[in-house]
Amino acid sequence: MEQRPLGRTGAEVGVVGLGTWQLGGDWGDVDDEAAEEVLSAALGAGVTLLDTADVYGDGRSEERIRRALAVQTGGVGGQGRAMERPFVATKAGRRADPFTAEEYTPENLRAWVDRSRRNLGVETLDLVQLHCPPTAVYSDQRVYDTLDGFVADGSIAAYGVSVETVAEGLTALQHPGVATIQVILNVFRRKPLEELLPAARAAEVGVLARVPLASGLLTGKYDESTTFPDDDHRNFNRNGEAFDVGETFAGVPFEVGVAAAREVADIAGDTPTAAFALRWAIDQPGVTAVIPGARSVEQVRGNVAAAGLPALTAGQLADLERVYDERIRAHVHDRW
Ligand SMILES: NC(=O)c1ccc[n+]([C@@H]2O[C@H](COP(=O)([O-])OP(=O)(O)OC[C@H]3O[C@@H](n4cnc5c(N)ncnc54)[C@H](OP(=O)(O)O)[C@@H]3O)[C@@H](O)[C@H]2O)c1
Repeated sequence: MEQRPLGRTGAEVGVVGLGTWQLGGDWGDVDDEAAEEVLSAALGAGVTLLDTADVYGDGRSEERIRRALAVQTGGVGGQGRAMERPFVATKAGRRADPFTAEEYTPENLRAWVDRSRRNLGVETLDLVQLHCPPTAVYSDQRVYDTLDGFVADGSIAAYGVSVETVAEGLTALQHPGVATIQVILNVFRRKPLEELLPAARAAEVGVLARVPLASGLLTGKYDESTTFPDDDHRNFNRNGEAFDVGETFAGVPFEVGVAAAREVADIAGDTPTAAFALRWAIDQPGVTAVIPGARSVEQVRGNVAAAGLPALTAGQLADLERVYDERIRAHVHDRW
């Protein structure tokens, strides 16, 4: 798989990573066996980047990663990242209670980071991303100073941010310690192409494209009658009841997304729609890697296949832009 430098982290990662929110919760049940199979399939297929967070299943995703890596590579302990194991990007900040900027104190950040170190079984976390904190946190110098201190004392190797909006990403880019930015970027979420990706690229900050399949819409497999379980955010967060609605179907109303995804599938032709959509994102200048989530071995393999696809044709790119302009733009463009 093509490897790219991950911004200022000094690491290289494959262009197709694995998102592991599904291995924690909020996507219906994924049991231990299925989680193990997904992780094992990803590592076996050459995935070198895992994205997780301390709050995915309240630590369950991180713990499953620790166990999988112990089996696959003999463990992740020690002084830093060995070449044989994947780069593990985790996140901190959503444990804040109440969820306010004032909770991002040095003491709380210390506690969150130390908990992730225990969950993942490492001395040094490869990357900690501020996990869509309240907007004020992105301009709080004390938070960056604290994270710089963690780099200096070896508890983390690097830090980055995960953002909801382009504006938050541009604010974070002002801070020289920020190594990476994670943002929603997909065929239905094009705003980062305008300013954020060029700015990140100029600053040599890595970009992780999350929700690259618009929570599954861009696989083309749903129709208007598709339903999701009660414990799946595509059911319980459809209108932003639990967290930012942009995280669910990238903020596109479900029926609108289903109709648009049908057109995307037509444009993809013989290429599986999911891999086609991932290839689009991988090829956007400034993107380091995509981190699709997967709940089965089949999905992992389907996503990894994107790394081997040719670039989209000029005609396909223009058709995708037309679908966005006609069906999607009005719902998302000025919101995030
Ligand atoms: N705030 C944040 O920082 C934040 C927020 C959201 C996500 N993330 C990260 O980004 C990752 C990716 O985003 P996401 O998981 O929300 O959305 P996503 O990657 O756009 O969509 C994942 C869903 O797409 C479907 N899918 C995946 N591969 C498939 C394939 N090859 N064929 C058919 N269906 C396929 C599955 O749906 P079914 O379940 O229906 O099978 C899967 O659950 C997360 O796992 C997480 O690590 C971070």
